[in-house]
Amino acid sequence: MSAASPIWPAQLDHLRLESDDPKALADFYARALGFEVHGFGEDFLLQAPGRRQIIGKGERGGRTYHAYRLQNERQLAEVRAYVQAQGLATEPSPAKAFRDDAVAVRDPDGWVSVFGLPKPGLPSPKAANAIPARAYAARLQHVVVATPNLAPMIEFYEKGLGFVASDYVLLDEDDQSTKRVAFWRTDPEHHCFAAFQASHSKPDHHAYETSGWMDFRDWGDHLANLEIPVVWGPGRHGPGNNLFFMFEDPNGDRIELSAELELLPREMGPRTWPHTERTVNLWGAGWIRQ
Ligand SMILES: [Fe+2]
Repeated sequence: MSAASPIWPAQLDHLRLESDDPKALADFYARALGFEVHGFGEDFLLQAPGRRQIIGKGERGGRTYHAYRLQNERQLAEVRAYVQAQGLATEPSPAKAFRDDAVAVRDPDGWVSVFGLPKPGLPSPKAANAIPARAYAARLQHVVVATPNLAPMIEFYEKGLGFVASDYVLLDEDDQSTKRVAFWRTDPEHHCFAAFQASHSKPDHHAYETSGWMDFRDWGDHLANLEIPVVWGPGRHGPGNNLFFMFEDPNGDRIELSAELELLPREMGPRTWPHTERTVNLWGAGWIRQ
């Protein structure tokens, strides 16, 4: 762990999801997750209590960046100085929902992480109690990628940014060179970001934390009314110990609803798990990334 990094605490604030038909994707997220949709330049800003996303033109299924919210200007200045001291190149921030002084860095697979402060004056979503999903708890909580380059990704996120490792999945638990999955945190929640070894770099999923298991019933019934099927779960992950189920957006990007995500103080070192279906789902069938 990198005790000196000022990255702690940071929380996932939003993603920019790309589509060749952003209006259709925004409509799906509005229906499935209860977001209110606002025009936002050429993009769409989607908001609901505890969660927001930006959807815009781009490669189908692409993610332009992952944006993490910092606490204040002092932390922002410290993060900028820290990543530059690690030798990372910073880029102009592409995140229009953040102030222009946000810090952007690019990982070895090309994913852009932005760290910044929310821009003031964004449109406020209307209270819309007639849309039940808008009132359901689902705080945007983590984002995950698949990578063919896990070792340099670990180096980038742990050394470059100071993300704290929570858990590793290994082919051989006695051989640290056989890591296949890494989970990282930037506050006490078990992971805000994770990477799975796979054949090529691609989005994996993103997740919203609910207020508890009973929320799964309400979300499940809501999605059932929309005829949006559950594609994995319900179950419980080993790493993070969270309850989960997943469904897919029209790009095939998986969306996770989660509950009971584990909390770990900063000083706790990483644990290891075997590379089995049981690790990713203690209750049964796994999702082994290819
Ligand atoms: Fe997840």
